[in-house]
Amino acid sequence: MSLDGKIKSVKNDFLADFDDFQTQNTDIENIRQKYLGRNGLVAVLFKSLGSASKKDRPKYGQLLNQLKNDITSKIELFSSDLDNKDNSDIIDIALPGKTYPIGSVHILEQTLNEIKKIFNDIGFSIAYGPEVDDDYHNFGALNFPEHHPARDMQDTFFINKDIVLRTHTSNVQIHLMEENDPPLRFIVPGRVYRNEAISYKSYCLFHQVEGLYVDKNVSFGQLKGCLEYFVKRMFGENCKMRWRPSYFPFTEPSAEVDIWDEQRSQWMEILGCGMVDPEVFNNVGYDPKIWHGYAFGMGVERIAMLKHDIEDIRLFYNGDIRFLRQFR
Ligand code: DAH
Repeated sequence: MSLDGKIKSVKNDFLADFDDFQTQNTDIENIRQKYLGRNGLVAVLFKSLGSASKKDRPKYGQLLNQLKNDITSKIELFSSDLDNKDNSDIIDIALPGKTYPIGSVHILEQTLNEIKKIFNDIGFSIAYGPEVDDDYHNFGALNFPEHHPARDMQDTFFINKDIVLRTHTSNVQIHLMEENDPPLRFIVPGRVYRNEAISYKSYCLFHQVEGLYVDKNVSFGQLKGCLEYFVKRMFGENCKMRWRPSYFPFTEPSAEVDIWDEQRSQWMEILGCGMVDPEVFNNVGYDPKIWHGYAFGMGVERIAMLKHDIEDIRLFYNGDIRFLRQFR
């Protein structure tokens, strides 16, 4: 791990121990020894300064001093509290109150907020739709014919023969177009469900953000421009992305976008997209000779995994406080 990473990790560990001290009254002296003792974690970090390059040394030195001061001042506050214990008849009204640990916004919610902000800035409104929906909105109207093998692309949880847990947010494309006249420009964040093999990058539920833009004269070039703008704002100017031709029953032509995953040294797919298939417009009563559109659907967990070096999608869902604390 880089020195930078080590400093961050000691800081996170300290905050966690300090939380425990406040909630469970663990011994503050143990914490002092662990971090500020002669062979404590901070001292060890100071020793490893020698191995940093000459150029980086001042930067790390500064970070380390800051860390040491932060830890010292937090601990001092409470140690002086303990020293005063036997003078129990003296009430020190200047003593700081007990601070209670507060929660934080879940990293998925933070990522969703970032995505919403980016698309809001370029004129997309936000809409929501049902997570339990009929077969028609999840498949039929999106041009998946009955018994068509394309339905095997997504392993579905059925409530009954006709009702499903939506397998994607694309069902809301249909609801939006049924309820609104064109032109329209929406993103749709939400949960989706798939009955598929669980792995580091696939889980039985996850989040997508769907996009739908319908107007006269919409082009694939605009779709490309829009998504490249999104990727740059989300991952930075220098992020490596690639376009791959693909197939979806409700878009033609269709494509997928991959982002280079530095951690695993491989491409990771983050979204599917394409030009709305005229058949979909027919299904919602839009005239495909007048109206054109593009659509996309992105996976929120994968975006957060790439952006924050998170190694396993299951971490988002098991509520481990040590994971959640890293993102406050
Ligand atoms: N619904 C697709 C999926 O879950 C993703 C997708 C592809 C959404 C293309 C779209 C689109 O809107 O145009 O795999």
